[in-house]
Amino acid sequence: MRRRSALDPGHRGGERVSRTEVEMVSITIDGKTVEVPKGEMLIKAAQEHGTYIPRFCYHERMKPVGMCRMCLVEVEGVRGLPPACTTTVTDGMVVSTQSETVKKAQDGVLEFLLINHPLDCPVCDRGGECPLQDQTLAFGPAESRYVEEKRHYEKPIPISELVFLDRERCILCDRCTRFASEVAGDPLISFTSRGNNTQVNTFPDEPFASYFSGNTVQICPVGALTAKPYRFKARPWDLAQQESTCTTCSVGCRTVVQTSRDEVLRYMGVDSDPVNHGWLCDRGRFNFEATKSGDRVLDPLVRRGDSLEPASWNAAIDTAAELLRQALAAGGPGSIGVVGGARGTNEDAFAWARLAHEVIGTPHVYAQFGDGVGGGLMADNPATIDDAANAATVVLLCGDLKEELPVLYLRLRGSVEKKRTRIIEFAPKQTGLTPYAWKHVGFEPGTQAASVEATLADAAVAAQLAK
Ligand code: SF4
Ligand code: SF4
Ligand code: FES
Repeated sequence: MRRRSALDPGHRGGERVSRTEVEMVSITIDGKTVEVPKGEMLIKAAQEHGTYIPRFCYHERMKPVGMCRMCLVEVEGVRGLPPACTTTVTDGMVVSTQSETVKKAQDGVLEFLLINHPLDCPVCDRGGECPLQDQTLAFGPAESRYVEEKRHYEKPIPISELVFLDRERCILCDRCTRFASEVAGDPLISFTSRGNNTQVNTFPDEPFASYFSGNTVQICPVGALTAKPYRFKARPWDLAQQESTCTTCSVGCRTVVQTSRDEVLRYMGVDSDPVNHGWLCDRGRFNFEATKSGDRVLDPLVRRGDSLEPASWNAAIDTAAELLRQALAAGGPGSIGVVGGARGTNEDAFAWARLAHEVIGTPHVYAQFGDGVGGGLMADNPATIDDAANAATVVLLCGDLKEELPVLYLRLRGSVEKKRTRIIEFAPKQTGLTPYAWKHVGFEPGTQAASVEATLADAAVAAQLAK
């Protein structure tokens, strides 16, 4: 065993902010000897060294459950075939992922999964990007021995306003249910019935009303969960895509925007380690539908007298430039302020700031009117989402994170659940994070400063903050 400097899991966007000593062990995968961090899951260690072990239930951002048995491997000295997603690496481990025994197991698992799986591929939204389809082709048997009638359920059933469930397609991998309870904290979908009748479902008369329901559609490894806005709209090979940033709130989750025939059809979360871990909230994921609203203002409007009149972009920009020239002549640069808007990306803010400072010459440039925490506080105490999610104590002086910055809520909730962080929350009413807060301090609007002062005078709080 050796020790090697490795990236701290809390690194920022690939930038190495700190290094920790990680104990390394040596393992052999399919004849190739590699060094991997001790305690790593075998499935992950193999992937990082170029060996893909097929899987359905394993998801890097959730606890392993070993449900699907697709990742069975042979380990020298171990009886049977252990699942690579629940096996941690140990020094000297010798693993085979492609032996005849493993291949036979993979054939068997896929053949069993397909006993009842419908032949829906040509009409299924997942077709073309489906792990079951891909892995059957890559690792499955050429044909099935089963000719019996498949199981039938009503298909699909809406489990919320946005998500449809096709139970015939479900392979019971537990990803959606784990996400709902483990990551989102909304355990509103669950396995029901037993044995051959086991199925995923919502509780009677209780829809899957979660702010994060779209993530289950993204991580479902088959087309059992589909999102209403995308159903039957496109195939993966019809889509053009561009990686981007969600601008709906200031968390700035990493997304990929997918379009077909000049129409935005889907947003998908991208796993950005310092920001969203692949998750999106439903507001950010589905709000692209607003771009198709008939109520949108699509052309610039120029005020003439009391009315706003449609104009071309050139005419509107000329009018804005003329108004700026008049204001400069009348009051000088300092008389002009620029409010760029809180919905933009960092790049938007940079462009607004350059226009204000370098073209107009005014120091007055703001993201929003004075309804947020002062910009000065942010400038003096910058912290990243990772800093917050790895802090021993987080003091919240804001509204309801679950409503306003939903994915930051997920990150902080996750830290609390892992017993990494304690939250002291100051809020005029109970919020989505209140059940997870170590201390919730309610206050009458207008008395926030006094309540913070009084709370800090509390010895127990002071001791916590000193940690
Ligand atoms: Fe897995 Fe999809 Fe079934 Fe949920 S609905 S258990 S994610 S296959
Ligand atoms: Fe967009 Fe939601 Fe992420 Fe905010 S939390 S950036 S709204 S996806
Ligand atoms: Fe390992 Fe499902 S991926 S058991």
